[in-house]
Amino acid sequence: MDFNLTEEQIMIRDAARDFAQTELLPGVIDRDENQKFPHEQIKKMGELGFLGMMVDPKYGGGGMDAVSYVLAMEEISKIDASASVVMSVNNSLVCWGLEAFGTEEQKQKYLTKLATGEIIGAFCLSEPEAGSDATSQKTTAIDKGDHYLVNGTKNWITNGGTASVYLVIAQTDADKGHRGINALIIEKGAEGFVVGKKENKLGIRGSDTHSLMFTDVKVPKENRIGEDGFGFKFAMKTLTGGRIGIASQALGIASGAYELALQYSKERKSFGKAISEHQAIAFKLADMATEIECARLLCFKAASDKDNGNDYTQSSAMAKLYAAEMAMRTTVEAVQIHGGYGFVKEYHVERLMRDAKITQIYEGTSEIQKIVISRGILRG
Ligand code: CAA
Repeated sequence: MDFNLTEEQIMIRDAARDFAQTELLPGVIDRDENQKFPHEQIKKMGELGFLGMMVDPKYGGGGMDAVSYVLAMEEISKIDASASVVMSVNNSLVCWGLEAFGTEEQKQKYLTKLATGEIIGAFCLSEPEAGSDATSQKTTAIDKGDHYLVNGTKNWITNGGTASVYLVIAQTDADKGHRGINALIIEKGAEGFVVGKKENKLGIRGSDTHSLMFTDVKVPKENRIGEDGFGFKFAMKTLTGGRIGIASQALGIASGAYELALQYSKERKSFGKAISEHQAIAFKLADMATEIECARLLCFKAASDKDNGNDYTQSSAMAKLYAAEMAMRTTVEAVQIHGGYGFVKEYHVERLMRDAKITQIYEGTSEIQKIVISRGILRG
């Protein structure tokens, strides 16, 4: 087993680290405080190839492997998890979903622009009454011959206000259960499609989370992704890859908080020595470093399963479960190590602690990951 990174992977990691330090760090506190979407920074991320990293270059992507994606996600998330969720959704849920299952026309029309960051996409599965229980879609897409008529509401949609293209999961035939669900591409500006209120969130406050309302929205049949009834499996397969992105986001949030805590603990003195020299703090740092390394290895395992064409349902769920839980523990400890300074905004760790929470919730809660993992174990 080779744990060494290739030269190209190191280059991508370093480019992401440099970008995060120079372009994302300035203003990150203000964007969090005032819920400002990082428009300028996302535009530059598109230009640098971070928004369509794994897409085939013939569609405008970077043609990189999933391990490189993990490395870049970690570096961006260390500094700004609001920017990295935009990156994760665009790469994993929107670009990957279209590249894997879209028609050539859909790829030419949408993927080429999404992969370069010319436009941003959103993935619309969650509803007021269907989050974890994703088969219970209330949004309907009624078959009208040459088009679908879409009605319903989607909630907590990342990139909800800034996206130009929305992949919307909706129920066409309730009698068929999950086999009656479709995935449709809906463009912003479609008649009857309204972007609802922006959520005022605990964390990732620079990202743009909205509810969406669809009233008699006509969607041409050519905008359906895959065969009739493929929508639920489309969502599940897409989320399986998305979980690698969110696991890497959690990893980055944790390692960002750890690096700040390590640095602070070497500078801050109490009882005549640096606090890092007190075993109470040194042991916390040892636990944090060990758990971060575990999460990183799980992320690499899931990414390398994907790169090697292996089934990554289990490994991505394990990476997401562990990294999200670890990020919550680690960021709480980072605040604790900073003492009173950790409780104020200038030191960044309180933001990272708030940002960590969402990684236990979106793209399947920790409990959902346990369902996926335990089913895999028990079914063999
Ligand atoms: N890959 C491929 N197929 C899958 C699959 C996967 N990972 N998981 C399930 N399926 C298939 C099953 O094989 C089954 O197909 P067949 O009937 O043909 O055999 C079908 O889908 C139904 O599967 P289940 O019976 O297992 O479905 P379920 O109702 O029990 O649900 C679940 C399974 C794992 C709980 C699923 O509903 C789930 O993952 N829920 C969480 C949804 C989620 O992550 N929501 C987050 C919203 S998106 C978001 O957060 C994006 C953002 O903005 C950041």
